[in-house]
Amino acid sequence: MKEFREGKAIFKANLSGKDKGPGKAKGVFYNPAMRLSRDLHVTFAKQFDFSGIMLDGLAASGIRGIRLNLEAGVNVEFCDSSRMATETIAGNLEMNGIKSKIYNERVEDLLQNRKYDWIDIDPFGTPAPYLKVALKGLTDGGILGIAATDTAVLCGAKPSICKKRYGAVSMRRVAAKEVGVRILLSRIHNIASGMDKGIEPLLCYSEGHHLRVFVRLGERKDIALKWITKDMRIVDREEKDAGGPLWVRKIIKAELIPESQDGVLGRLLETLREEANGPPGLHDINDIAKAAEIGQTPQRIKIVESIRKLGSFASSSVFSPLGIKTDAPEDIRNQAVKLAQSL
Ligand SMILES: C[S@@+](CC[C@H](N)C(=O)[O-])C[C@H]1O[C@@H](n2cnc3c(N)ncnc32)[C@H](O)[C@@H]1O
Repeated sequence: MKEFREGKAIFKANLSGKDKGPGKAKGVFYNPAMRLSRDLHVTFAKQFDFSGIMLDGLAASGIRGIRLNLEAGVNVEFCDSSRMATETIAGNLEMNGIKSKIYNERVEDLLQNRKYDWIDIDPFGTPAPYLKVALKGLTDGGILGIAATDTAVLCGAKPSICKKRYGAVSMRRVAAKEVGVRILLSRIHNIASGMDKGIEPLLCYSEGHHLRVFVRLGERKDIALKWITKDMRIVDREEKDAGGPLWVRKIIKAELIPESQDGVLGRLLETLREEANGPPGLHDINDIAKAAEIGQTPQRIKIVESIRKLGSFASSSVFSPLGIKTDAPEDIRNQAVKLAQSL
């Protein structure tokens, strides 16, 4: 086991991730490539006046919860089914001067008897088996954070598994990840409805190989799930090649996006803030250029600027480097891409 530093934490773990060591099969998992996800989680948690207890439900080394405690002042408890992981968490808490509870059991079992105000579920692969138990383990108004690394399933590469696991049709191409997030939200919404509850998405994004959503559990709302067509129209019923059923309401609350961060995190947050109030779905910049019959596709930022000049909503998106979020109809998108050539 090696010693690492991340944020304000110092901790021990086994290096995992592609080409970086023993991987998930042996030892206590730590993937440095997920640092940005933890940085964002810490920054996001600071936005709340959160006074309850959070559960780091699949904690591994405990790095996520340790950082949330040290950097955002969150009261965190830890759970992992691996004995080696929970022994490591105990040592890591001591190294960081944190006193807290650690549970060595399946999070599904722990949540039969305890409730939390914020639960984080960060599994290997799909979060589907944990959704119901995590929602049931939340106090009223509690927050659920869910990571999904089964992106191939949620984002169009394995449609039959997506249908079986999430009850929805996924999509390929530029909007695939955003649609994947909306499918995950539709599944969470359906489970919450079955408990006579509702959800409010707070912050949802994709980064690297994972998707992540943060939702608040609240009163039941009668919200209709819908479908999105290949040309990004929202329709009430299933159509050929459409993705859904999906959560088509807002997935990012702009007022919860922290400001003034530097570097990669700052740029990610800025894009999230920009796209928060846009419509669902993304248009591929190359498709826009092709439809307008122009040769080389202008830079995305120039097309966004041109669409705005023509009076419609436009933003880039964290869900794809080739995607533009816009409510501009096709003729305005065509005009904009031509205008962008001259910028
Ligand atoms: C992807 S790792 C968690 C990574 C960690 N959150 C981080 O940020 O580094 C998943 C962890 O879940 C644990 N685990 C797997 N199934 C579990 C279950 N049913 N209940 C609790 N822990 C579980 C594994 O032992 C592993 O340590």
